[in-house]
Amino acid sequence: MKKVFKIIGYALGSLVLLIAGYCTYVAVVGVPSYDPPTIPEITVESTPARVARGEVIGQIQCLACHANNENRLTGKYLGEVPALFGKLYSKNITQDLEKGIGNWTDGELIYFLRTGVRRDGTFAPIMPQYPNMADEDLKSVVAWLRSDRFPVQATKEEAPESELSFVSKLLTHTLMKPLTYSPELVSLPDSTDPVAWGKYTADAIGDCYSCHSGDLIDQNKVHPEKSKGYYGGGIEMKGEGGKPVITANLTFDEQTGIAKKYTKEQFIRVVKLGVRPDGSVLKQPMFPRPMLSDNEVGAIYEFLKTVPKIQNDIAKKNAELQLAEK
Ligand code: HEC
Ligand code: HEC
Repeated sequence: MKKVFKIIGYALGSLVLLIAGYCTYVAVVGVPSYDPPTIPEITVESTPARVARGEVIGQIQCLACHANNENRLTGKYLGEVPALFGKLYSKNITQDLEKGIGNWTDGELIYFLRTGVRRDGTFAPIMPQYPNMADEDLKSVVAWLRSDRFPVQATKEEAPESELSFVSKLLTHTLMKPLTYSPELVSLPDSTDPVAWGKYTADAIGDCYSCHSGDLIDQNKVHPEKSKGYYGGGIEMKGEGGKPVITANLTFDEQTGIAKKYTKEQFIRVVKLGVRPDGSVLKQPMFPRPMLSDNEVGAIYEFLKTVPKIQNDIAKKNAELQLAEK
């Protein structure tokens, strides 16, 4: 018997050493770097239509994380991220040549937005990747970044460097990885098909699933519909003043989803203006999206009807949170 214990003891001991070794390695290496990639040769032609479309996508995506109080893309502190992940800051993405992205090529920007990898091979783990955004829409984003619009004009102001927690560093060795660049064209879906257009607007443009699914990290960026708890909500985030707020269940589950809560018109209103049918206002980090058209938000509603229903009672979870706070 004693021998068995000894063997188990040695085995456990080696396991602990192995884990300790791995943790030291992660702590020392930090976020892993990759070989500098082959950047695609892309030159984006700027047209007024592209700048306008890019501005809509920029307002939904880029401004939310990169804009300071004056609406300039200087980079800022990302306060809604749970403390577990560290102190995170975005970067200056104005046209400034030194502090911003003024000297990035169009190809470098598009490669980065698809994969998360910069031209020197460094990886930006917190920045979302956009594998499903149509090529045409990505080009619009680039046209907007190069345009004469106010938020993108060169400025030298910048945010401090991020301080990633050990957990974040560990995640960049496991779940948070660069995506591969596919030279294949990603085309726009048929805008007259509400379900296809709604899925594209919600998943590829709005990134709605990333907050409204079951886990903030464990997500399938390439096939969002395979993400755990797709549109079932329930993620606890930091809202205004650091107060916790739980993301909503957007599936059409009769009891706990939006089926009975929202008509299409009410849904369009809450998404565009942030006001529920009873007059209550949605809490941060859910922000109103008036830049989307009624047609686009209506399409999201039609698409959500087709998503597998998930029973997840957020109202109950919110009530429990409030009890816990008292
Ligand atoms: C959820 C927040 C978030 C959103 C949305 C977001 N970014 Fe970022 N972005 C970041 C963070 C954080 C970084 C810093 C790198 C890191 O640690 O991941 C970053 C880095 C970058 C960089 C690299 C800059 C550098 O100097 O290395 C570029 C370029 C960029 N973002 C462009 C964009 C564009 C364009 C959009 C809109 C399509 C966008 N980002 C949307 C958070 C975000
Ligand atoms: C940064 C995370 C985040 C993103 C991205 C996000 N949401 Fe939300 N959303 C939330 C949170 C948190 C709430 C809960 C707010 C509250 O309780 O007041 C919420 C609430 C909602 C509600 C209210 C549901 C209810 O039961 O009353 C709707 C509708 C909604 N979001 C739709 C969307 C759509 C559509 C998108 C994409 C265009 C989206 N959200 C993107 C975080 C997010």
